[in-house]
Amino acid sequence: MTDTTSNQMWGGRFAAGPDAIMEAINASISFDKRMAAQDIAGSRAHAAMLAATGIVSDSDAAAMREGLLTVLSEIEAGEFTFSTALEDIHMNVEARLKDLIGAPAGRLHTGRSRNDQVATDFRLWVRDQLDAVDQALQALMRALVAQAEAGADWVMPGFTHLQTAQPVTWGHHMMAYVEMFGRDLSRVRDARARMNECPLGAAALAGTSFPIDREMTAKALGFDRPCANSLDAVSDRDFALEFLAAASICAMHLSRFAEELVIWSSAQFRFVALSDRFSTGSSIMPQKKNPDAAELIRAKVGRIFGANVALMMVMKGLPLAYSKDMQEDKEQVFDAADNLMLALAAMEGMVRDMAARTDHLEAAAGSGFSTATDLADWLVRVLDMPFREAHHVTGALVAKAEAKGCDLPDLSLTEMQEVHGEITASVYDVLGVHNSVASRVSYGGTAPTQVRVQVARWKERLG
Ligand code: ARG
Repeated sequence: MTDTTSNQMWGGRFAAGPDAIMEAINASISFDKRMAAQDIAGSRAHAAMLAATGIVSDSDAAAMREGLLTVLSEIEAGEFTFSTALEDIHMNVEARLKDLIGAPAGRLHTGRSRNDQVATDFRLWVRDQLDAVDQALQALMRALVAQAEAGADWVMPGFTHLQTAQPVTWGHHMMAYVEMFGRDLSRVRDARARMNECPLGAAALAGTSFPIDREMTAKALGFDRPCANSLDAVSDRDFALEFLAAASICAMHLSRFAEELVIWSSAQFRFVALSDRFSTGSSIMPQKKNPDAAELIRAKVGRIFGANVALMMVMKGLPLAYSKDMQEDKEQVFDAADNLMLALAAMEGMVRDMAARTDHLEAAAGSGFSTATDLADWLVRVLDMPFREAHHVTGALVAKAEAKGCDLPDLSLTEMQEVHGEITASVYDVLGVHNSVASRVSYGGTAPTQVRVQVARWKERLG
C-alpha cells in the first residue's frame, strides 16, 4: 500500500510519501523492534542529560522519561502497534511518545541523530548478548568439568587421523574442551571490554553544537566512556563483527564436539549413551535413537560463520560515515546470537545427561595396539635402545600380534623374545592401558593425577 503523506519524522522537504516498495526495502521495524528496551534506555539517559545541561526543561525531561517507560510497558505487554511507515524502532518509539506526552516529545531528538542512536542501541544489545554467552559458556564448562571429575580414571582410545593412537582418559578429553571454551570465554570478555564505549552524542556524524554531557549518558548506560571520535562512533560495526568472530570460533568448537558425540553414540563406537531428552526416534525404524541435537549443533556453525562473512561484506566498502547499508547488520547478529545460545544450551544439556559407557571405552582403549608407544619407550628406558631402533622392534612386535590376531599384551614372552632376545617380563607392566595413562604425568598430560590438577584449577575459576 502506498502512503501518500510524507513521513512525519523527516518529510519536511517531501511532497509525496514513499512508494510501497521503497517502504518495504527501507523499513527495519520488523527486526529492530528487538532493540526496544535498549532504545528506550538510551532515550531516557539522553532526556536526563538534556535536562541536566539545561538544554530542555526539567518538566519536559520528566515527561519524556515517564512517557518512555509507558511505551516500554506497552511493548512488553504486546500492546504496541508497530508501524512500517515509521521505518524503525527509533521513530516508532518517538511517535508513540508524542501521542502520549505531546509537544515535549519533539525535544527528545535535540543533539542526537538516529545514527548515534542506532549505534548506541546496537552496542547495548550486543553487550547483553556477550554477557549471556559468557554465562552459557560457563554453564557448559561446569558440565564438562563434572564429567571430567567423574571420569578422571576412565580410559578410552585417543585418536590421531581417527585411528587409534594412545590411550587417554575420559577426563582428559573432557578437559580439552574446557580449555577451548575457556578461550572462547576470554574472547567474549575481550570483545566486551573493547566495545564498551558510548556513541551517543556523536549525533549524525560531526557531534553537536548543543552543550551535551557525553560522560553523563555514557555512565548512565553502563559504558566506560564516550567514543572519542564522532565519525568512528556512528560508522563502525567492528564490535558486532568481534561478537560474530568470537561466536564463529565458539560454534566451531561446539561443532567438533558435536561431531564426536555423533560418532561416539553410534552402534559402531558405543562410547556414550545420550539421554532420551536430547535424542529423537525414527518414524520408520523402531530401533533408532538419533543424536539430532548434536547434528544440529554441528550445523549451526554454518549460519553463524555466514553471518560473520555477510557483515564483513556489508562493511568493507563503506565510506565514512553512516550509510544505510549498515541497517543490514542486525538480522545477521540476531540470528547468530539466537543460534549460538541455543547450541550452547543444547550442548550443556547433552553433556550433563550423557553417560560414558566405560566398558566399551576400556575395551576400545586396549585395542588397536594402543600401547605400542609405551612398549617402544620401555625398550629405550630398560634396554637403553635408541628410540629409532625401539620404534622398529615395536613395529615387528605389532606385526607379529597382527598376524596372530591378538593384541600386544597377548603375545607370550617367548614370542616377544623371538623379536628381541633381551625383552623381559617387566614389559607387561607398560602394556596395560591403565598403566599407560598413569605414566603420562608430564604437565598437561593424560594421567588421572594431571587431569585432577586441571579439574581443581577450573573448578576454582568457574566457582
Ligand atoms: N534503521 C536505521 C539503521 O538501522 C537507523 C539509522 C537511520 N539513519 C539514517 N540516517 N537513515 O541503521
